[in-house]
Amino acid sequence: MKDILTSSFIKEVSKTIDQMYRLGWDERNGGNLSYILSEEEVRDYLNVNKYNRVIDLYIDASFLSGKIFLVTGSGKYFKNVKENPESNLGIIQINPDGKTANLLWGLIDGAKPTSELSTHLLSHIERLKIDPLHKVVIHTHATNLIAMTFIHSLDEKAYTKTLWKMNTECIIVFPDGIGVIPWMICGNEEIGRETAKKFQESRLIIWAMHGVLGVGQSLDEAFGLIETAEKAAEIFFKISNFPNRKEITDEQLEALSFAFAVKPKSNYLE
Ligand code: 13P
Ligand code: ZN
Repeated sequence: MKDILTSSFIKEVSKTIDQMYRLGWDERNGGNLSYILSEEEVRDYLNVNKYNRVIDLYIDASFLSGKIFLVTGSGKYFKNVKENPESNLGIIQINPDGKTANLLWGLIDGAKPTSELSTHLLSHIERLKIDPLHKVVIHTHATNLIAMTFIHSLDEKAYTKTLWKMNTECIIVFPDGIGVIPWMICGNEEIGRETAKKFQESRLIIWAMHGVLGVGQSLDEAFGLIETAEKAAEIFFKISNFPNRKEITDEQLEALSFAFAVKPKSNYLE
C-alpha cells in the first residue's frame, strides 16, 4: 500500500481547506467539506474491507450505499488540516443499511465527522441525481456573504440579482442563482433537508447569518463558485455607501447570458 498522505486527494483537499482558512473564512472549526472518492482512487492506499469503527449517520443515506467520502472532522480547525490530515480528516464508506458508515481512515482518537454530515450527505444525494459527475460539497463561513445576510433582503431573486450585478462574471459563473435559507439551527437533519432541496435548483446556498455552501464536480468548481459570490458580496459593501452608483442592468445581464450561452434562472431578468 502507498502512503495515503501522498495521494492527490488528501493533498488537494488539504490545500483547498488551507486556502479557505487563509481567506479568513474558517475561524476556529468553522466550515466543513466532503469529497466523493471512487474505489479506484483509494485502492492503492486503503483496504476497504478493513475499517476502524462504525459511525452512526442519523439519517437514511441508503442512496449513497457503498460510496466513499473524505470528510472533515467535527470541531477540527481548518488551520491544522494541512499539517495533520489524519487527525482532522476521515474517510468513510456508507454501509448498505444507509444508517451507518465504516471509518476506513483518519479521525483518530475517536474524532467524529463534521456535525453537518447530514447536510453533506443529503446534498450529495440531490446533486448526484442531477449530475452523476458531482463530487464535492463545501461549507464555509465566507465573511462578506454572511455580513450581507444581516442587511439585505433574503428573497432569493433579490439576493441573486444583487450579486449578479456586482461583477460581470457572476451570471456566467452561477446563472442558476443562489438559494437562501433563513436562520436555522445548524448541525441537524432539518437544515440538511432544506439545503438539499435547494440544491435541486442552485449550486450555491446561503445559510443566513452563518455561511455558504457550494457544490461541484471538483474542489475547484465548488470553491470557485463560493469565491466568485464572496467577491461580489465584498464589492457590494465597498460600493454601498456611495451615492449615484452605476449598475449592470438587466439588459446587460441578458446580453451576457446570450454571449456566454448560459441560462439564467427563469423569471429573474426583467
Ligand atoms: P463542524 O466542526 O462540526 O464541522 O462544524 C463547523 C460548522 O461550520 C458548523 O456549521
Ligand atoms: Zn458553519
